Amino acid sequence: MEYFNPISAWSLMTQPSEIWAQAFASANIALVKYWGKRDSNINLPTHSSLSLSLGRLGTTSAIRCSSSLVEDIYWLNGIRLEGSSAAFKRLQAFLNPFRPQGCAFELRSENNIPTAAGLASSASSYAALVMALDKLFEWDLSPAQMSLLARLGSGSASRSVYLGFAIWHAGIKANGEDSFAQPLDERWPQLRWAVVVVDSKAKVMSSRQAMSRCIKTCAWFDKWPDLCVSDLQEAKVAITNKDFQSLGDVMERSALTMHATMLSSSPPIVYWQAQTLAAMHKVYELRSNGIPCYFTIDAGPNLKILYQHQFHDSIACELEKLERPVLYIDPWSVNDE
Ligand code: PMV
Repeated sequence: MEYFNPISAWSLMTQPSEIWAQAFASANIALVKYWGKRDSNINLPTHSSLSLSLGRLGTTSAIRCSSSLVEDIYWLNGIRLEGSSAAFKRLQAFLNPFRPQGCAFELRSENNIPTAAGLASSASSYAALVMALDKLFEWDLSPAQMSLLARLGSGSASRSVYLGFAIWHAGIKANGEDSFAQPLDERWPQLRWAVVVVDSKAKVMSSRQAMSRCIKTCAWFDKWPDLCVSDLQEAKVAITNKDFQSLGDVMERSALTMHATMLSSSPPIVYWQAQTLAAMHKVYELRSNGIPCYFTIDAGPNLKILYQHQFHDSIACELEKLERPVLYIDPWSVNDE
């Protein structure tokens, strides 16, 4: 089955260019999680998901394409990737359909977030790459088309072409043409993220591998997509009504249920560390003291805490006691605060 690629026909006609094109994409954190694929080759999810961007945390990618390069060169945070590495092969497979004949790519990516630590760096990497390609080849793609292409690199990257809230529609078509993200036309300027960096080292297992194990071995995995559908509905209503407690409840539930699928897999997948639990309990303690804040956790040990900026001082003062680095982020701002 041919998968849907909105630009394959034009890319072959594009002249190679010596110039560099550059773009920045924010990472994003799912409020209602994506976890499960109906097609793992082209990253089609079993259900729709909803995210909020991580503002200034993300990836800047610069790319050029030239007939004078003898082979592809990919730099990640200043280090050249080995041709034999999984990251290199994945990038090359992604870029091949867009490669003009006889040309090689040079890509420089800089993440200002820890790479592969469950902080959504692959989401911002593939979104920034697609945005840079769009500039390089002057495709002039719509955001939805860019989202669709970014999805082919990493599912969650489909949501990283936007700032703010984004919904990735699961779609139903086998070729993926209806599986892309769109922005939610809602602003909530009071919202903030606090990212508690429990461990910035690369995670023990990629989300791709973990997802696949859950699908194969979690006995109740077939129940999960339906839970996500109702969570998504509830989260959308909470955002429209600016109901922070409802949004926080659904966000925590979505993360904990996703981790429950991992704990129910065989062998179980446990991304949490002692400091992850300490940070979760800190959030519960803050709430019981009347300070509204909620957490979410992805495929890694780090915690992302959602709060409203009027509570910043009380929250920052308590999180400091965890003795871990904490990054404070305005989801809608790409500049340092
Ligand atoms: O896009 P991937 O394959 O890295 O999967 C990411 C999955 C989670 O981050 C755990 C959840 C999500 O919706 O982003």
